[in-house]
Amino acid sequence: MKILIIGGSGGIGQALIKEALQRFEGANIYATYHKNKPQWNLPCLTWLPLDATNENQIFKLSQKITDLDLLINSIGFLHSPSQLPEKSVQQFDVDFFQQNLSLNTLPTLLLAKHFQSAFKNAGNQSRFAVFSARIGSISDNRLGGWVSYRSSKAALNMAIKTISIEWQRTVKNVCLFAFHPGTTDTELSKPFQHNLKPQQLQTAKHTAEAFFDVCGQLTSADSGCFVDYQGNSITW
Ligand SMILES: NC(=O)c1ccc[n+]([C@@H]2O[C@H](COP(=O)([O-])OP(=O)(O)OC[C@H]3O[C@@H](n4cnc5c(N)ncnc54)[C@H](OP(=O)(O)O)[C@@H]3O)[C@@H](O)[C@H]2O)c1
Repeated sequence: MKILIIGGSGGIGQALIKEALQRFEGANIYATYHKNKPQWNLPCLTWLPLDATNENQIFKLSQKITDLDLLINSIGFLHSPSQLPEKSVQQFDVDFFQQNLSLNTLPTLLLAKHFQSAFKNAGNQSRFAVFSARIGSISDNRLGGWVSYRSSKAALNMAIKTISIEWQRTVKNVCLFAFHPGTTDTELSKPFQHNLKPQQLQTAKHTAEAFFDVCGQLTSADSGCFVDYQGNSITW
């Protein structure tokens, strides 16, 4: 089994690697980092540097890994050291918006473009899981706010739905889906955790376990779905 985890250095990404190591004995796991290379190594784990906004780097990675059973994109962006998500459109900032798009939307499109043939080569059932967020659902939006993050995840969801329809004709062995992990204790959620009740915040380990439970239930017939950590469908 071959697994590639994009954003393996993230809070959820590292937990996904640990969970995959336990569940899939003998699997080859490739994991990418961008700025922070984790300091743990194992014979079946290969760390690879990647800027997932750079098409040439994704292309080169796809030349290195030519067949895949599971591709997970767990990178994402919500805030920077100087900027939190917008409470009002009056705080909208072009650079911040473009950063959201380039980290939350663009990488999945580039990965789909360049890893399509890796799924074809895998033969059996393959999965391409993308970490989205419930907040990217248009029909579920009751609070407003966070306009750049919401818009970039909504665009990501549209990309997933669109590509899944195309692949149902051309790469029939793949299940491409959007996954909502639930609020998880990582750097991404840190600035917003103070308002939460303890039961509203999951550990990354719990999220990774839930992810693999849900992922294991899905087949290519489910391609194009948007599901949460309990396996429940989320409306677009
Ligand atoms: N945590 C939550 O509560 C929550 C809730 C809903 C949805 N999500 C979604 O779940 C996913 C994972 O979130 P997380 O909490 O694990 O975030 P995180 O801990 O902040 O991790 C972010 C990851 O993105 C990588 N990254 C950033 N810029 C990159 C680039 N240019 N190229 C390649 N990789 C890059 C980081 O790599 P380096 O550290 O190596 O730079 C890191 O691995 C995201 O899509 C997020 O939107 C999270």
